[in-house]
Amino acid sequence: MTSLKGRPDFEEHCQQHRRFIEELSRMRDQSSADTAGAMKDLVDFLNAWLYEHILKSDRTLAVCLNEQNAKVHMKEH
Ligand SMILES: [Fe+2]
Repeated sequence: MTSLKGRPDFEEHCQQHRRFIEELSRMRDQSSADTAGAMKDLVDFLNAWLYEHILKSDRTLAVCLNEQNAKVHMKEH
């Protein structure tokens, strides 16, 4: 993964993870006020984020990593 450092799409990917953690922290702080509402918001947020992130961002990153691994493998042989 560190070989992708500096690429704009990788930096955006890392930013998505940071925003994810920030949003979870915000929801945790809010949960004491309205537990049922907070749980629904949390489940909705996790569903949407994980679906979008895994299907788009993680998949794109996986393609990049596979291409890099293939190039390294080609150089070795
Ligand atoms: Fe990710």
